[in-house]
Amino acid sequence: MRILGIETSCDETSAAVVEEARILSNVIATQKIHAQYGGVVPEFASRAHMRQLPGIIRVALSQAHTTLDGLDGLAVTYGPGLAGSLLVGLMVCKTLALSLHKPWVGVNHIEGHILATAAENAHMGYPYIALVASGGHTLLVRVPAPLQYEIVGRTIDDAAGEAFDKVAKVLGLGYPGGPAIERVAATGDPEAIVFPRALRESGNLDFSFSGLKTAVLYYTQSLTPGEAVRQSADVAASFQKAVIDVLFHKSLAALQKYRCESLVLAGGVMRNQPLRAHFSQACHKRGIRLAIPAPEMCTDNAAMIAHAGYLHLVRGEQSDFTLEVAPNLSL
Ligand code: KG4
Ligand code: ZN
Repeated sequence: MRILGIETSCDETSAAVVEEARILSNVIATQKIHAQYGGVVPEFASRAHMRQLPGIIRVALSQAHTTLDGLDGLAVTYGPGLAGSLLVGLMVCKTLALSLHKPWVGVNHIEGHILATAAENAHMGYPYIALVASGGHTLLVRVPAPLQYEIVGRTIDDAAGEAFDKVAKVLGLGYPGGPAIERVAATGDPEAIVFPRALRESGNLDFSFSGLKTAVLYYTQSLTPGEAVRQSADVAASFQKAVIDVLFHKSLAALQKYRCESLVLAGGVMRNQPLRAHFSQACHKRGIRLAIPAPEMCTDNAAMIAHAGYLHLVRGEQSDFTLEVAPNLSL
């Protein structure tokens, strides 16, 4: 089954062609316009999707050496995300499905992230725990069987990626914050400053990152401008260490609580190299099976949406034309 996936929930315009677990193409255009505003401007995001999506679909089809007629179905993100951005992808998908007479399905963006490593997930067996850490979400999810999800932990305030973005702003590093912090942190000492690990010992599986962001802000404000520049690498590295530490600690607690031996990492924050290295080593040491998406499959992309869409379509699940965008959709 050959599926065209479409993803336009935030500031990546993406189209992909996936055949079962094989990615034939995955074209991602990251909108540059938002950097100068320090965050995503919804109106500009929708307009850029509108402008770019048809061309991106054409490139995805051509890279996959196929045509619209060669598709067996379509999949599109319908939530959660920015309403105006989701509308563009959903409407383009409906129009294609209508004119091509092909089955199509709306996909939950968070499910898409969890299924970025779909083939590995199925291979590891069930139940598994998924840790989703992106710009909008930080969740621990128990997956007892294919396409079944139970949220067992979540952030009570900021998402992990949001914390990276806000701390980058405090340090004057620009948007998006995650890659900028990682770059600066590479020359810093992660042990230099001990930032708080909120809720680490709370006994539940929830997260809180807003206090950590404030602690970095207060610490930075206590420095002279000269010290702030000299210490920025240490601050970035110490902040990054605190996030990794909490994410790993809670993942381990979830695995233990639900007697799972497999962990799936998902979402944009998983691009972080020190985080990937920490989870790989620590899971290996404890005999935990671990799936981490390739870096380009961590941040928003249409291949993960096509993977998820395929798994639904192959079970005969389809959407109908009354489906609306769902900006606050939960898993
Ligand atoms: O999954 P994603 O592309 O979009 C959402 O669904 O939100 O995640 C984007 C988030 C941003 O907050 C960004 O700062 C973060 O992922 N991110 C990173 C890295 N690359 C992207 N965080 C830490 N380290 C990175 N290398
Ligand atoms: Zn995402």
